[in-house]
Amino acid sequence: MPALADEPFTLVIFGASGDLTRRKLVPALWSLYAGRTLPEPFAIIGSARSAVSDDEFRRRMREAVREFARVKPPSANVWDRFASSLSYVNGDPADLALYASLERALRDIEKARPGPANRLFYLATPPSLYDAIVENLGASGLARPQGGWTRVIVEKPFGHDYESALALNSRLARVFREEQIYRIDHYLGKETVQNLLVLRFANGIFEPLWNRNHVAEIQITVAESIGVETRGAYYEEAGALRDMMQNHLLQLLCLIALEPPVTFDAGPVHDEKNKVMRAIRPIDPRKVDEVALRGQYGPGFVGGKPVPGYRQEKGVAPDSKTETYAALRLQVDNWRWAGVPFYLRTGKRLAKRVSEIAIRFHRTPHMIFHRDPAGGVDPNELVIRIQPDEGVALTVAAKMPGPELKLLPVGLDFRYGEVFGAEPPEAYERLLLDAVHGDSTLYARADWVEQAWSLLSPVLDAWAHDGAPAPYLYEAGSWGPAEADSFIARDGGAWRTP
Ligand code: BG6
Repeated sequence: MPALADEPFTLVIFGASGDLTRRKLVPALWSLYAGRTLPEPFAIIGSARSAVSDDEFRRRMREAVREFARVKPPSANVWDRFASSLSYVNGDPADLALYASLERALRDIEKARPGPANRLFYLATPPSLYDAIVENLGASGLARPQGGWTRVIVEKPFGHDYESALALNSRLARVFREEQIYRIDHYLGKETVQNLLVLRFANGIFEPLWNRNHVAEIQITVAESIGVETRGAYYEEAGALRDMMQNHLLQLLCLIALEPPVTFDAGPVHDEKNKVMRAIRPIDPRKVDEVALRGQYGPGFVGGKPVPGYRQEKGVAPDSKTETYAALRLQVDNWRWAGVPFYLRTGKRLAKRVSEIAIRFHRTPHMIFHRDPAGGVDPNELVIRIQPDEGVALTVAAKMPGPELKLLPVGLDFRYGEVFGAEPPEAYERLLLDAVHGDSTLYARADWVEQAWSLLSPVLDAWAHDGAPAPYLYEAGSWGPAEADSFIARDGGAWRTP
């Protein structure tokens, strides 16, 4: 990212007593500040219903930073300087009175410092409050720029289905212009996800291979070893398809499949991602089972410890049909990808936490090493490891030393940690900074979100149907239901074991 001039800004976080603020937002802001990349002067106003003093809010945020930030508080001095920019305004987001208090707080901050009044509102509340907040930001006049810029960041879930996403977009559009709206998908802020575009478009060797002539199939895996933790009630309403597939995995698919954008800027990148979405073959409501499969974890062992099944988790119905695992088989019907299957899978309580994209190339057209007793090796594979152990690996065939002509797959491996040393910044760091600088390239545009919901609608409908069969059970700590293997085997393939 080019060096950008400092500019003053104030961030207002709705939902400041919530998990996201504590685990992600304030720790990310702190790490930026400690790394001297947060534009100054800045101020952060936390807002929530509970009455909390500025000092108490600062104390809680210090705890949060200690626990969750990439950069730990180095010294009391630096923390005190950061903390002096934190304040708290309590109130009910559904009540206009809160917005009058916020306006006063913003004006006081802006009066005391030079430069324009730049304001960033972050919706980190449960989505049931989005409508009220957006409406009130409009009614109070806070949505209008006050001589500087005014922007809003909206957290996922961005709608619950196609209709609710449309409704939310149109509510936002009544109050904000599209350039003011930043729909966050934290996967886009991950360093390795950005590196994916660099790998594709800053290297001459991959692009000629990046198509149906050379690629046989693509697998995208986002596996988690954790369960639903304390979010049972939320997850019951969401499930893996809404929670992960509609956003993170489809975003990854678009970045793998898109045509080269003219430049790495918001407009061209969003346009190319949308073209991919338009090219994905619509799912036939009568054939959902052919392209989608769902599972749910039962009890099992993770990391050697016994863990309960999903239906035993707090906030989960004992007969819940919510999926904690989802797999899709998609086709991108365009010139580049015709005939190449894209397999996507995600799940909780799987064998380990790993996110990766594997691009499997065609076999050589003719194997001349027929004396290899094993009959050759697997085709070349390019694996982009998003997390953990971020990196890129290419498997190639090599000859095993010795008199026999025996082939073995070996990896040409690039590891982020080894090459760059430092731990990559958190996704929220990059994304918050981009919103302050007015760059929405790594955010989701309204039309993309709508297309993603529209694509998945037949699956959501089929699974919500009363008579729909329950998800396949899988043991916690496994790689998902056994049926997922037969699902992919129908095409003659198999899931990778990362
Ligand atoms: C969130 C989901 O969007 O992503 C969570 O709501 C999930 O259920 C999380 O655990 C995974 O993110 P990460 O960055 O840990 O892979």
